[in-house]
Amino acid sequence: MRFGKVICGGIAAVALTSVAFAGGHGGADPSIGARQAVMSLYGYNLGILGAMAKGEVEYNAEVAAATAANFAALAGLDKSGMWPEGTAQGEVDGTRAAAKIWEDQEGFFKIFADQKAAADTLAATAGDGVEALQAGLGGVGRSCGACHEVYRGPRN
Ligand code: HEC
Repeated sequence: MRFGKVICGGIAAVALTSVAFAGGHGGADPSIGARQAVMSLYGYNLGILGAMAKGEVEYNAEVAAATAANFAALAGLDKSGMWPEGTAQGEVDGTRAAAKIWEDQEGFFKIFADQKAAADTLAATAGDGVEALQAGLGGVGRSCGACHEVYRGPRN
């Protein structure tokens, strides 16, 4: 009972904080931080898998499978609300989201969808040995680069 109350209180406090953040002070749009956080987690999980694939870290089937499952979960997040109009590089500070995202929404979100499929394949096979991990990772990595090349702007 008491535990539940503490948790609810915590959630309410977080909700209120973000409303204040979004509403006041002329601060950055919180969706920018959210999409960058997703990308950071992408990088974190792929870093673990990449190190194993390259042999920098000893392959471990359990860790590989769990990490690939985490990545697949992230790839499955609905990201459609994280790219509101008016948050392109050049329109606001602190983002590298290229204007092209809003000129070609279909192409942009298609890469996310394709990557989710590649992530599911990776999650299903990453625990089957280092060669399976390498093969699955190739497809995923290519789609990171494919999107960044077109839809991510230069360093600020
Ligand atoms: C469909 C497009 C797309 C895909 C797929 C994609 N990214 Fe990104 N990524 C972006 C964009 C756009 C930005 C810039 C976002 C911003 O600054 O608001 C970005 C930014 C990043 C950043 C910098 C985050 C920060 O804190 O500023 C990292 C790291 C990153 N991506 C890693 C990855 C990895 C690893 C993958 C593949 C698993 C990946 N991305 C797949 C579009 C994509």
